[in-house]
Amino acid sequence: MPLPDDLLSPEATADPHAVLAALREHDPVHWSEAHRAWLLTRYDDVSAAFQNKALSNDRVRPLLAARRGHAPSTSDQVLELLASWMVVSDPPAHTRLRKLAGGAFKAQRISAMDAQIERLVDDLLDTFVAGAPAGSDLISDVAYPLPATVIATMLGAPVADRDRFRDWSDELALVAFGTGGEARADRHERALRGLREMDAYFRDLIAVRRRDPGEDMLTAMMATDPDDPGDRLADDELVAMCALLLFAGHETTTNSIANATLALLRHPDQLELLRDRPDLLAPAVEELLRFDGPIKVLNRWVVAETEIAGCVISPGQRVHLVLAAANRDPARFDDPDRLDLTRSPNPHVAFGKGIHACIGAQLARMETRIAVGRIVARLPGMRLAGEPVWKDSLASRSLEALPVAHDAGRKAAVG
Ligand code: HEM
Repeated sequence: MPLPDDLLSPEATADPHAVLAALREHDPVHWSEAHRAWLLTRYDDVSAAFQNKALSNDRVRPLLAARRGHAPSTSDQVLELLASWMVVSDPPAHTRLRKLAGGAFKAQRISAMDAQIERLVDDLLDTFVAGAPAGSDLISDVAYPLPATVIATMLGAPVADRDRFRDWSDELALVAFGTGGEARADRHERALRGLREMDAYFRDLIAVRRRDPGEDMLTAMMATDPDDPGDRLADDELVAMCALLLFAGHETTTNSIANATLALLRHPDQLELLRDRPDLLAPAVEELLRFDGPIKVLNRWVVAETEIAGCVISPGQRVHLVLAAANRDPARFDDPDRLDLTRSPNPHVAFGKGIHACIGAQLARMETRIAVGRIVARLPGMRLAGEPVWKDSLASRSLEALPVAHDAGRKAAVG
């Protein structure tokens, strides 16, 4: 009997862990016809893959090269815009972009954003609590708007423009990693329209900041490399970096908050533990990221023959690093299917590893910690108000909606 390996089947979309456990146990380096890719499901193989130079992140350019000679299409134009993102580049181009962006992240003093993020979360929760106590969507009210607003604020965009960041992020998600369903015929047109609008917006904002520098991250990203004062990000690169930050930091953080809340709702003992012991929030976030993190699969393009656990993998093939499987590997984590907010150490790979490891991890952890902490504190009696549905995305573990009921209004009325 062949092992089920279609990670987009309805069963695997609803709960990938049974399919992934069987693959990890019986064929940990598995060629999947369904995905036309190798699936790596063991923690050690996934960790080693992050360091393997035969596995490239430069995977958009080969798609473009393969299309050369065909009539240019809208999807080519979208791909060209994405091809310059550092997350799909290799050294030396990646090294330079990462250094310039990394300097700007450091200059931002993320830890000082604590109070600001808490205020944002509380404002969003006010709206949620004012909605129907019998059940509103915690994603559309809280988990979804928060990260785009934080990124817009970090980049120094005026408050009034924040909603546009959310729309652009949606349009990017339609194409960049296929969220929203491959079947959407208009997704490239929508994405291209959104990207063009965003491009024009960031160019205007860059011009404003050149005239009038601020304390924001966009201004910091305009600075020269301290080790090479002749080098700085060109305008095209700045625009690409803003788009990447918005894209990489929005859907992931939304899903981090939503998946974490769902996991707590499904494990009432752990929810109670967190209510009683808010000091556990930091390790709890790590465990929630391990247990059901936002990124299910990362993609690599094979550029040189390489051997993984005895399997020869050839140039031109694709490798999927299945983070959701690595994070539940019993060879690395005791009782991996148990949610244990006190788990320590917790060396999960939800943020990746190696040169591309998430540059926004500190910010993502802070947003998730504050959002989950405030949700637990402000929604007494919170419970699911309907069965949540997972999106059929290969790359991300993403809910359509998270209907949550609570007793917050009742408590307020009584008290
Ligand atoms: C819980 C939320 C998040 C998760 C789970 C996450 C996860 C990841 C992972 C796994 C990677 C590695 C990609 C690879 O190896 O191909 C990555 C890279 C990246 N992330 Fe995040 N991320 C999150 C939030 C954020 C935020 C808030 C930002 C920025 C505002 C951000 C910006 C980036 C960027 C720019 C990269 C590319 C880094 C590079 O190529 O060197 N991420 N992220």
